[in-house]
Amino acid sequence: MIHNQWYALLESKQIPRHRPVGVTRMGEKMVFWRDMQGKAACAVDLCPHRGAALSAGKVQGDCVECPFHGFQFDVRGRCTFIPAIGRTAEVPQAFRVRSYPVMEKHGLVYMWWGEPRAEYPPLPEFDFMTDSRYVFATIRDRWKTHYSRAIENQLDVVHLPFVHANTIGSGNKTLVNGPRYRITDQPGGMDLLEFWFDNKVDQGQKPRKPAEMPPTDDHPLIQFRFPNTWHNWLGDTFHLFITFAPVDDENCILYIRMYHTVRLPVARQIFELLGNIGNFYIERQDRRVVVTQQPLRTELRMGEKLITGDAPIIEYRRQRHKLIQGDGRNREEG
Ligand code: FES
Ligand SMILES: [Fe+2]
Repeated sequence: MIHNQWYALLESKQIPRHRPVGVTRMGEKMVFWRDMQGKAACAVDLCPHRGAALSAGKVQGDCVECPFHGFQFDVRGRCTFIPAIGRTAEVPQAFRVRSYPVMEKHGLVYMWWGEPRAEYPPLPEFDFMTDSRYVFATIRDRWKTHYSRAIENQLDVVHLPFVHANTIGSGNKTLVNGPRYRITDQPGGMDLLEFWFDNKVDQGQKPRKPAEMPPTDDHPLIQFRFPNTWHNWLGDTFHLFITFAPVDDENCILYIRMYHTVRLPVARQIFELLGNIGNFYIERQDRRVVVTQQPLRTELRMGEKLITGDAPIIEYRRQRHKLIQGDGRNREEG
């Protein structure tokens, strides 16, 4: 994983108000819970006393309480109470769990994966997410591959007429012009990759290279914001959003969300039901193929023979490599 980034890892509704919940993310078992104000907290799901899972315990006030001997830990991971030594005893500093800063926005839980800081960079988000006209519906699915493969699939314009021949890739547009792309470094490292694509039916013409594509003022069709969120612009009133939550080196979970403006209750229900069915069908077309790719994790230099149409994937790999190299801690990781 790339260090020192905010990762959107799960939905807010997955963390109930009065009960801790255990999930695996970023290759670690983690416990999430809410303090008395409802603010989400996250720590490693391993009691420093004798190794029980904190997620099997309870929420007590602002703390999570271990199910085994009742030790309590606050949102910073400090142990605040050891019942066996009594309420008046001071708890030694060594009794702590590693905790992670957490922020919630857009109904998503973002976790800071990196060094603690006095001030954190802004959350990675897209403009439309803060537009109050929109409502959204989300589905999720687990893919048995590294999250980099799942991301690259969403940046892949070459696969459309093959994987999605009867859905979004219909029309046999196998010839890939460009694609045009743009990459923007952001303060804090939440870099933005944007691209436009223009696939055509092959009538013997030569495809244009990315540098030969005419300039455009159109909205980019695809945006990807590091480390793990993606947006497909489908018009002024319809957007697809995905966050790719890393579970471990061999698994990830996709949260696939459509943002739209159909707000009337019954119409919204029908629209979201049909939309979710469609999205599920399409992502399963992808999943079927992507989970067969080897190796599971991608690298900048990995011996694949890429073509011009793979430009967004190459840019993703370059930028990810740069972000990983930019932090000495990341050098051995992906
Ligand atoms: S193992 Fe958690 S309190 Fe003992
Ligand atoms: Fe696809």
